[in-house]
Amino acid sequence: MTGLCRLGRSQYELVIKKIAMVNTPTKPSFDEIRPGVKRPAKETLLTPRFYTTDFEEMAKMDLAVNEDELSAIIEEMRVDYNRNHFVRDEKFDRTWDDIPTETRQTFIEFLESSCTSEFSGFLLYKELSRKLKNKNPLLAEGFSLLSRDEARHAGFLNKAMSDFGLSLDLGFLTKTHNYTFFKPKFIFYSVYLSEKIGYWRYIKIFQHLEANPEHRIYPIFHFFDNWCQDENRHGDFFDALMRSQPQLLNDFRAKLWCRFFLLAVFATMYLRDRSSKFYGILGMDSREFDIEVIQETNKTAGRVFPIVLDVDHPKFFPILDKCAADYLKLLASAESTTPKLLKKIQNLPTIASMGVKLLRLYLMKPIDMTKQAGVVR
Ligand SMILES: [Fe+2]
Ligand SMILES: [Fe+2]
Repeated sequence: MTGLCRLGRSQYELVIKKIAMVNTPTKPSFDEIRPGVKRPAKETLLTPRFYTTDFEEMAKMDLAVNEDELSAIIEEMRVDYNRNHFVRDEKFDRTWDDIPTETRQTFIEFLESSCTSEFSGFLLYKELSRKLKNKNPLLAEGFSLLSRDEARHAGFLNKAMSDFGLSLDLGFLTKTHNYTFFKPKFIFYSVYLSEKIGYWRYIKIFQHLEANPEHRIYPIFHFFDNWCQDENRHGDFFDALMRSQPQLLNDFRAKLWCRFFLLAVFATMYLRDRSSKFYGILGMDSREFDIEVIQETNKTAGRVFPIVLDVDHPKFFPILDKCAADYLKLLASAESTTPKLLKKIQNLPTIASMGVKLLRLYLMKPIDMTKQAGVVR
């Protein structure tokens, strides 16, 4: 006689319920705009931005100084090496209910944030290709090819979300997300860095999971090697574009702006990742990962930017860690039930302390790449 048979009816039902709770996956709780369609995550300073720019100014750009290099990169993108890469294979043909609820929740957040940032690239590049079509055909074609790749990336990520019972309504996102206006030169600095940091992030995750396949919880990571080559080419396109406008790279103001965007892009990733559980799921140390990605992206940026940050300075990451601690304090405050006005007042010293630390990082002596004699740039 089994133990279950000795139980009374109500006890028996209780046991069955408990077993059912263990075996039936709990759906991660997300707000939905309609069944199966996730409400986009709340926009904050650190969530992916959507950009718009001065299309007229962009259309008038004379590319003659570096037209050959730009044409060569566009020719390479026309070949479309990844045309058949983003095809879901049999590895996706199963359910993912065995992944614990909390892990699934974190993973869905990662997919959403990645999909939103890929889609943001798609929207900007598509709009640029449309607006420049008759006025600057070479640039228009470049942007059209970039938007082709980003559409694939965003679509692939959105499809992955649907494996977890949710997806993003990209039309809804287009209409409801806020757009940040940047002059073309700021688009170049920031998008160049986003593409290159994207490249380093994807390749580092791919390499880590190749070495530790037991942490590959979902097959999308198999695709990151060729995927990151798209991002690398996109970064090269902006590299060539900036070189066609030497005034964006060779004066005092250019140096100040490059410093600003390097710090903005690095700090955004570093702070955001300190509050993410995603890397732990993959068996990675997120701080180590971010440091490596920042060091590599900084080195890469030195090929085109006149200046890079001294990220190897012994105080650089310790100061960034203190900023991250301030940021976590602000996140905790946002979750608290304290009245809004009181929260704002209580947060003022933390915001000021964070601002001072970021200023210290900005004022750290940078590395002037124009003075690096004998370095191939
Ligand atoms: Fe992409
Ligand atoms: Fe890209």
